Amino acid sequence: MTPASTATTLRPAARLRGTLTLPPDKSIAHRAFIFAALSGGPSTVTMATPGRDVLSTIACLRELGVEIDEASPGRWEIRSRPMRHATLDCGNSGTTMRLLAGMLAGLPLRATLDGDASLRARPMERVAELLRRTGAEVATTDGHAPMTVVGRASPAPTVIDLSVSSAQLLGACALAGLAATGETLITTPGPTRDHTERMLAWMGVPIRRAGGTTTLTGPARPRAFELAVPGDPSAASAWLVAAALHADAEIRMEGVGLNPTRLGLVGLLQRMGVEIETRITDVAGPEPIGEVVVRGGRPLEAVNIGGAEVAELIDELPLVAVAMASVAEASELHDASELRVKETDRIGAMVEGLRAIGANVEELDDGWRVSRGTPSAGAIRTHGDHRIAIAFAVAATAGIATEVELDDADCAAVSYPTFWDDLAAVTR
Ligand code: S3P
Repeated sequence: MTPASTATTLRPAARLRGTLTLPPDKSIAHRAFIFAALSGGPSTVTMATPGRDVLSTIACLRELGVEIDEASPGRWEIRSRPMRHATLDCGNSGTTMRLLAGMLAGLPLRATLDGDASLRARPMERVAELLRRTGAEVATTDGHAPMTVVGRASPAPTVIDLSVSSAQLLGACALAGLAATGETLITTPGPTRDHTERMLAWMGVPIRRAGGTTTLTGPARPRAFELAVPGDPSAASAWLVAAALHADAEIRMEGVGLNPTRLGLVGLLQRMGVEIETRITDVAGPEPIGEVVVRGGRPLEAVNIGGAEVAELIDELPLVAVAMASVAEASELHDASELRVKETDRIGAMVEGLRAIGANVEELDDGWRVSRGTPSAGAIRTHGDHRIAIAFAVAATAGIATEVELDDADCAAVSYPTFWDDLAAVTR
């Protein structure tokens, strides 16, 4: 149940116990629908309760002419069709906008991509500049959305050296490379989530990642497929941190995506002293799937984070700040200035919010320094950002605040539409 009003008040839970099935991993779901649209044949994607971001990708593909039906609850059928000119509303979803821009660079049509106020504030020149190298015409609005892409049926293959480890930029370049004749090479400064590589390879596309470079040989078309989208490890992260910080907690999650490039938080929390078990139960698809169990009750240790590990933790960093605020010694995050260009400036939003609930916080250009203060009641501005809303719901539930007043609980549905139901289930 989403709270009736979007503002909501949260307090520490007496205990946290239960077994959860998480919403579908949005990184995998976005790609599954886009790759299905390019596959030339009918494909099936199974997933329950997608968040709003995934629904934005589905709506955009439909607008382009792709047939997508939820044939029965949770079973989505996709029939690829020749695509047409369109104006696309990507909502709040940067992944939708950047991956679709990459796809459109390799299609002979014109499309304009737009989104909500948050998405219009995010940088699009980076992706535009990369796609122009394939021969596509890409026009941004002062570096932002609305962004118009006029693609080419046979874009040029490109050699791209990304200055940031961004899976969205890598995915956009790879999508353009599918239509190009020859090798597209994309190098990143460090590891990033590798769903593009795993999924396209599973769909028969010649793509490999070695030594920091992804190489795709085109032209190539993903084969039609049937795919069950696993539970979102970033949604699991909320419960990993909530349970880790709570004296009476044991939460089990089943059907979770266990791609190692998404498990940065598991390793980090283990380093801080948390008891977490993961067990792979299914390796039939492109990604390992399994269960995760977390138990609370142990004191956590301070931690310093920076460098290459940041990209594999990127969506989890607001929750990491909450974990840091449970420890008396200071923890630091560096090299995370990408957080400033997510759905909101997540460094600014976390620093402001943690201060409001009594933590000791120092804002750094590229991160923060955080330690335990005196937990208090605070009003939190989410800025409409799902990860900020969930991080402070976790902070209150785990007792890092005595009370949290969230200005917008509804925005959690961007990635985790069943978050409030799951919170009620484990605190019952
Ligand atoms: C995503 C990549 C990440 C992440 C986003 C989803 C993806 O962004 O923050 O939520 O699906 O490719 P970057 O790796 O581009 O920073």
